[in-house]
Parts: sequence; structure tokens; C-alpha cells
Amino acid sequence: MMARSSLALEGSKSILVFPLHRHHRHLLLLLLLLRIVRLSYSATSTNSSFAFQNFRNANQLILSDSAIITKTGALRLTNSSTQTPNLGYMGHAFYPAALQFKTAPAGNTTQSFSTRFVFEIVSQGAERGGHGLAFVIAPSTNLSNAKGSHYLGLFDVSAIGNSSNHIFAVEFDTVREPLLQDIDDNHVGIDINSVISNASSTASYHTDDGRNETIILDSKTLIQAWIDYDGQMNLLNVTIAPLPSHPEKPKRPLISYAVDLSPVLNEYMYAGFSASTQRLASEHYVLAWSFMINGQAPELDLSQLPRVPTTSTSMWKSRFLPYASIPLFLLVWVVAGMSWLVYRRRKLTYEKIEEWELDYPHRLPYKEVYRATEGFNEKKLLGKGGFGSVYKGVLHRNGVEVAVKRVSHGAEQGMKEFVAEVSTLGRLRHKNLVQLQGWCRRGEELLLVYDLMPNGSLDSYLFGDKRCLSWGERFNILRGIASSLLYLHEEWEQIVVHRDVKASNVLLDAAMNGKLGDFGLARLYDYGTNPKTTRIVGTIGYLAPELSSTYKATTISDVFSYGALLLEVACGRRPVGTGRASGEVLLVNLVLSLWKEGRILSAVDKRLGMDYVVEEAELVLKLGVHCSQATPEARPSMRQVVKFLNGDLSLEALELQNQVIEDDQDLHQLGLHFSSSRTISSNTASSTEPGTRGKLDQDKSSRGSIW
Ligand SMILES: *[C@@H]1O[C@H](CO)[C@@H](O)[C@H](O)[C@H]1NC(C)=O
Ligand SMILES: *[C@@H]1O[C@H](CO)[C@@H](O)[C@H](O)[C@H]1NC(C)=O
Ligand SMILES: *[C@@H]1O[C@H](CO)[C@@H](O)[C@H](O)[C@H]1NC(C)=O
Ligand SMILES: *[C@@H]1O[C@H](CO)[C@@H](O)[C@H](O)[C@H]1NC(C)=O
Ligand SMILES: *[C@@H]1O[C@H](CO)[C@@H](O)[C@H](O)[C@H]1NC(C)=O
Ligand SMILES: *[C@@H]1O[C@H](CO)[C@@H](O)[C@H](O)[C@H]1NC(C)=O
Ligand SMILES: *[C@@H]1O[C@H](CO)[C@@H](O)[C@H](O)[C@H]1NC(C)=O
Ligand SMILES: *[C@@H]1O[C@H](CO)[C@@H](O)[C@H](O)[C@H]1NC(C)=O
Ligand SMILES: *[C@@H]1O[C@H](CO)[C@@H](O)[C@H](O)[C@H]1NC(C)=O
Repeated sequence: MMARSSLALEGSKSILVFPLHRHHRHLLLLLLLLRIVRLSYSATSTNSSFAFQNFRNANQLILSDSAIITKTGALRLTNSSTQTPNLGYMGHAFYPAALQFKTAPAGNTTQSFSTRFVFEIVSQGAERGGHGLAFVIAPSTNLSNAKGSHYLGLFDVSAIGNSSNHIFAVEFDTVREPLLQDIDDNHVGIDINSVISNASSTASYHTDDGRNETIILDSKTLIQAWIDYDGQMNLLNVTIAPLPSHPEKPKRPLISYAVDLSPVLNEYMYAGFSASTQRLASEHYVLAWSFMINGQAPELDLSQLPRVPTTSTSMWKSRFLPYASIPLFLLVWVVAGMSWLVYRRRKLTYEKIEEWELDYPHRLPYKEVYRATEGFNEKKLLGKGGFGSVYKGVLHRNGVEVAVKRVSHGAEQGMKEFVAEVSTLGRLRHKNLVQLQGWCRRGEELLLVYDLMPNGSLDSYLFGDKRCLSWGERFNILRGIASSLLYLHEEWEQIVVHRDVKASNVLLDAAMNGKLGDFGLARLYDYGTNPKTTRIVGTIGYLAPELSSTYKATTISDVFSYGALLLEVACGRRPVGTGRASGEVLLVNLVLSLWKEGRILSAVDKRLGMDYVVEEAELVLKLGVHCSQATPEARPSMRQVVKFLNGDLSLEALELQNQVIEDDQDLHQLGLHFSSSRTISSNTASSTEPGTRGKLDQDKSSRGSIW
């Protein structure tokens, strides 16, 4: 780059001198040629090197996005503002000149380089911050296409792992993102073309006497870092140590990684820093920086480091103190006002914990849940369902995005039993169950914290304005849910009856896998009522008809609901349709009559066109009818259902008893009025104890049952 600009200068000189004598022109051309030769020679042997003891001279760096130079001469890449857009804020700073990392454009050896810098990450108060800082070598100084948050301002989400990125970075990451294989929320990692680190290690350093000390990156500690690459040995070392206690480079590096950077680095590259924030945020500072190609990066003068601006609280102090002479009552007012604020906040997050609560695992402090949802902010409301409101949030302890379900119980009575069961359910582990992260109770309110499912519920795809799901996605979701029900019914230590299987309880993860949510919530309503009565809990269209006489939710009534789900997903219609012809109000009757007419496939969702697998669609529809039979004994068990879906059993093995529910009659028997598919509950005097099992499960009487 420097070579090019010097040549342009020479070129313009030669135009200026054009009118001179012929032999002069020859002389000049010769000089010019010599100059080019010298330039290209020096380019191969220049040891690029620079050192910034601070950044007071603002045009020493190219800054972009939220990066600024503070008054004290520190480079601040991000502020700690958490009011962030979707993929967070980011800040970048680059050394303005391209550095030559290779001696030839297509060379296959990268020159050695070495850099050292001092950084500090300041998070607000006692909170952990986010997301991280990185030293980066990139082909350009423009990373405006990259994203913040976990992407550290380095990568575009769609370009992760693409070898045409040509990005090398060393990340100092303070938030754990399991999807990106982060090892913890305080690590150093080597990133090559991807935020998924090629090597990483918990931030720590080795003292000379061999101890291994952890450094918390975002704890306002000054940290010196060294990154050394040996182009001959193809070895990259990363070392860190805290300041001022350990100014010397520890002898043993934190990470020593054998890697050939020549496919990654181009001949000319830019070096600099990147940092990002999202809902978790920190101020990311770099205070001093030196760099050298083919040599040791120059020493930094650690006594001259610029100060990191103090945080707002101490700024308040420094502004306030000069006015100490103001009348005392003003001070009293401030103190009174502040204690009122503190009191109000304490009251809002006050938590009365009863002793028994401490016995159950997965309990989260109310304060944490309150903070995660920004105080149950309306803006965080994801939706309201039959069992309460759901809020989106981020757990500060690990940065995990969660859905918080706020269930009002209405009575503290029975809460203990319910909590006992919730914490038991916290132990359920299945890839098609929405994972419970924790729970907490506040008075009559129960808060259940689940993993957030980014793609929402299945019914929003089937009936909402989202795109049409392909047949492959539908079949995969149905199989996933079947295997989770089999797990609940037969594979866990106790029998768990879900009682509310329906499309809106099937949630979709980022890869569009179906996960069953809300298990156990139906139970809550039983505890709230007189033990002599039992409620039918569930959703019209998914409720097995025997419930109207037995009031016993069983694994077999779950199979009925699953049957309704099978038909719903295949047909793209709700299980109960008010606008349909008599005899076809229930979807199952509609499908059955088409089956009898020998054209069952015409029930398949019209939106799919011909884009489905005929055998699978036929299987799903017929299995749906089998599961929806009125006689519980006639329905297959979940284990059989899974076998059918896997092709291990053929449907011929089942006999259709042809006893499907009569539309109106059975709905009336249930004592229900259907106008929508909302969750309902109906009170009926009956003295059945909870936890009864379906007929097919009677051989398992030795196992406990909690529903
Ligand atoms: C933090 O930085 C962002 C991005 O530059 C900016 O929009 C926001 O106003 C800043 N917040 C504060 C409090 O300075
Ligand atoms: C790259 O290295 C290989 C041997 O490792 C050598 O044969 C080849 O000529 C080199 N290519 C260039 C462009 O230097
Ligand atoms: C950075 O690149 C993007 C597109 O890649 C472009 O829109 C933007 O103008 C560039 N910014 C600068 C400062 O060059
Ligand atoms: C990698 O990025 C390049 C340039 O942006 C693009 O053309 C290519 O399709 C990408 N490759 C993959 C596998 O995404
Ligand atoms: C680094 O990791 C990326 C993605 O994990 C991988 O594509 C790449 O090959 C790795 N590079 C090296 C040099 O191991
Ligand atoms: C140093 O300690 C950290 C955790 O504190 C650990 O992850 C790392 O493996 C340790 N390193 C060595 C070499 O023992
Ligand atoms: C990297 O560290 C190893 C010791 O683990 C050392 O032998 C090697 O010389 C170091 N390389 C560089 C480039 O610092
Ligand atoms: C570049 O650095 C290397 C190693 O430090 C040294 O041997 C060489 O003489 C230096 N070259 C120049 C031109 O300074
Ligand atoms: C599912 O969610 C992921 C991540 O949020 C998103 O990238 C993807 O586009 C979503 N898929 C659909 C079909 O909406």
C-alpha cells in the first residue's frame, strides 16, 4: 500500500519534469526504476512495527461502529449500554496501514508476527458483562457486515466457517454460548474464519512457580496479552497476565496451537480490535498496543497507561464532592430519595422463602428471574396462554435466552406438592422436550424458566402467517414429539402423562426440531381445587372422549391427543372446525370418511401441493385415525406409534375398530362448548385420585406415577 502511494508520487513528478531535456528524462526514468526496485526490495524485508503507549492522537487508528477514543487516550470499543438492537452493538479499531504478512501474493509461508496489548473489560456494577473483545487480523478495515453479541463483531451469521472470510482472531469471550461450543463464560480462544474456536482455554496464567491462576476477564482488571506466531514452526502462542502484579510475560503460554496461517492470511492484512455487546454489555478498552512482523513486539511502558474513565457512580462522587458545601438538607433529600428507591426495588424483588423450598433443586432467586425479564416488562411478553403469561428473558448468570412462564396459582395450598413435581420434572432430559432451567415461587405465583425456543410454536406455522412447513419438517417434528411422549410414558423412572399435547405446545428450535413443552402444567389446576373434584384439563379436539366418564388422564388419552396432532399437521387444519359440514366438524371424521372413499390422500394439506412423501402421508393420516379411536383399548401405545413412524411396524398389524367419535354427541357429553381451541378446564364432582394409568400400562404397576 505504501509502495503504491510512493509510486504515484514519483509518477506525478515524472510528468512534471516531462519538458526537460531528453537525457535528463532518461536519468529520471532510471532513478524511478531504481526507486521501484528499491521499494519492492524493501517491501520484502521491511519489519513492520509500531507501538502505541496510548491512543491520544486520534487518527492513529481507523475507528468504526461504536468505537471511540476517550479523553484519557484509551480506545473504547463498546459502551455498556444494554438497550441493544437484535444482534447487539459492536466496535472496531484498525491500524490504518495494511501490514505485509507474506512475502509473495500466493506465498505459502506467513511471516512471523508478534503483538502485545493491554486491555480492560468493565461491566456494570457487580454484574457479569458481555460479550467479548478480540484481536483481529482481517482483509479490510470494514467489518460492518458482521454482527455483535456472540459473533464479536467479527463475522456475519451466514458466513461463519467460510474460508473466504480470511479472518484470524484471538477472542476474549465473557459469555458462554453452547451453540457455538464455548467452553465457559470466561475464555480465550483462537478463531479461524469462525466464532467456533479452533482452540480455547479458560482465561488463566501460569506463575513462575508453576501455579495456574484464573483471571476473570470482565472484572475491571488490567490484563496484558501477548500473541506470537512463528511462521517457520507454524506455532501460535497466546499468553495473558494481570497487571500490575505480573508485568512480565509468563514463561508458559496459555494456548500453544500448531497452525499454518498461510491459507488464512493474505499478503496484506489489517490488524486491530473488535468487541461486541448485546443484552449483556461491558465497556471494552484497549489501553496500549504494539506489533511487529518478524520480531518481538516492542515493550509497552506500563507506567504510562491511560486511565480507564471511571464508571458513572464514581463520576457522580467526583462531581458531587466539590459542592460539599451545599446545604445539608439537600443531601438528606438525596439520601431519603435513594433509600426510597432502594426500598421500592427491594419490595419489588422481595422474596419470602419457606424452608421446604430450599429442599428442591433448580430453584432460582426471584430477583434473577425478575431481572432476566426486566421486571416482567410488557415488551418482553411472548404470549398469553391458558396457563399464564410467557416472557422472554436472558439469565444473567449464563446469558442463556429463556422463556419465563408466569403461572398464577390462586392458592398457596398445594404449592409444595407442585414444586416437588416441578423439580422432579427438571430432571427429565430428552432432546424433544423443552428443557426446564429452573423455577421459583413468589406467594401464589409460580415462575417456570424454560429454554427459549427461537422459532415459536408449531401452530403459528400451521395456522399463522409464517411460511408453510415442508413435509420433511412436519414428519420430523411428529417423530420427535412421538419419541418424547414415549420417553414420558415408558422410559423415565416414573410415568408422566402430559395431558395437554397440542400444536401450540409443540415448540420449534432453531433447526426446526419439535420439542414438547408445558409438561406438568395441567396438573397445577388439580392442586388448586377441592381434592374431591377433578378437573378435565386439556383442549377441545385433543381430549379423549373417555375423559367425560372417567376423568382419568392416562397415557392412552395422551395418545388420543397425539392422534389429533398427527391429523392436524398432515392436513393443516384444526382438529375441530366450526365451519365444516355436519359429520366433519371433527377432523378425524373428515379423514375417516375420505379413507372409506379410498382417497385419504386428498386430506393432505393443500398448501403442500404434490410436495410430500405419499407413503409417509398415508401412514400419518391412518395412524392419526387409529390413535383417535373412541375406545381407548383400540388405540396403539406410544411405543407402537414410534415403531409405525420408524417403519418397524406396518399399519396392517392394527385393526381399525371403526369406533370414531360422533361429532356433537361426544362433545356434549364432555359438557363443553367449543368456539375456539383454547385450553379449557371443566369442574366435575368425581373422586378419582390423580395418577391413574391407562390400561396398557397396568403391567408397570411397580413403577411410581406422578400424574
Ligand atoms: C452506546 O453505543 C451505542 C452504539 O454506538 C450508541 O447508540 C448508544 O447511544 C451508546 N449509549 C450510551 C449510553 O452512550
Ligand atoms: C509451497 O510449498 C510447497 C512445499 O511445501 C512447494 O513445493 C511450493 O512450491 C510452494 N509454493 C509456493 C507458491 O511457494
Ligand atoms: C463497508 O462495507 C459495506 C458493504 O460491504 C458498505 O455498504 C459500506 O459503505 C462500507 N463502509 C465503509 C465505511 O466503507
Ligand atoms: C463463502 O463466501 C463466498 C463469498 O462471500 C461465497 O461466494 C461462497 O458461496 C461462500 N461459501 C459458502 C460455503 O457459504
Ligand atoms: C478451524 O476451525 C474451522 C471451523 O471449526 C475449520 O474449518 C478449520 O479447518 C480450522 N482450521 C484449522 C487450521 O484447524
Ligand atoms: C488452568 O486452570 C483452568 C481453570 O482454572 C483450566 O481450565 C486449565 O486447563 C488449567 N491449565 C492447566 C495447564 O492446568
Ligand atoms: C510458544 O510456546 C512454546 C512453549 O510452550 C515455546 O517453545 C515456543 O518458542 C513459543 N513460540 C513462540 C512463537 O512464542
Ligand atoms: C527484521 O527482523 C529480523 C529478526 O528480528 C532481523 O534479523 C532482520 O535484520 C530485520 N530486518 C530489517 C530490515 O530490519
Ligand atoms: C428458525 O430460527 C432460526 C434462528 O432463530 C432462524 O435462523 C431460522 O430462519 C428460523 N427458521 C424459520 C423457518 O423461521
